[in-house]
Amino acid sequence: MNRDWVRWHQEYDTPGSALDRRLEVVRRDLRRALGTSPAEPDGTRRVLSICAGEGRDVLPVIAEHDRRVRALLVELDPTLARRARETADDLGLSGVEIRTADAGQADTYLDVWPAHVLLACGVFGNVSADDVRRTIAALPTLLVAGGIVIWTRARGDGGSEPAQEIRALFAEHGFTELSFTAPEDARFRVGMHRLAGTARPGALSGRLFTF
Ligand SMILES: C[S@@+](CC[C@H](N)C(=O)[O-])C[C@H]1O[C@@H](n2cnc3c(N)ncnc32)[C@H](O)[C@@H]1O
Repeated sequence: MNRDWVRWHQEYDTPGSALDRRLEVVRRDLRRALGTSPAEPDGTRRVLSICAGEGRDVLPVIAEHDRRVRALLVELDPTLARRARETADDLGLSGVEIRTADAGQADTYLDVWPAHVLLACGVFGNVSADDVRRTIAALPTLLVAGGIVIWTRARGDGGSEPAQEIRALFAEHGFTELSFTAPEDARFRVGMHRLAGTARPGALSGRLFTF
């Protein structure tokens, strides 16, 4: 899919827009995840955001937290990655890396420690059904045991609910649902799942998804 993702982000600037409302839900869920996910013995939590865009969800929430939250944001578009980097700098977030890279390629994560919290927002609606399945199946390789995933998916045209298939896939791959937000007056859906099954660090290879 060949979309202008810089332009796509402009909807965030319209208060009350669907994207603005979705952002509030994702931030709320991320605050909860950062309060309840596992952590390292010294309290450090690692956040990984795939296809992170400008990082509008992750960066302000991390700034509210103590500095033991570290984050890796993976974004392919250099303009969006630069904006995310500027925001991280403005917020004084020294524990954040913005990686301008292909989040769909397993090699991108070769040096990445398993995350305590992973965001896949704006991903599943832009890739094929096979890629959605492959990506969800791969998430236990990117997470610590008990790690939390926050994901989004829009309601389909004609009222279909592709999010239901995604919820089923998470269950199939060892995740327990923590929340599912589906406002009746908006198309966005936001899910939050915890890895209850076994983490499989280091087992990732090949391609997960292509936009
Ligand atoms: C729908 S936007 C979501 C952005 C952000 N997660 C959010 O919710 O605000 C999809 C993002 O994925 C990025 N993207 C597309 N293909 C990618 C890839 N292979 N690797 C990393 N980022 C990618 C786009 O540039 C865009 O910023």
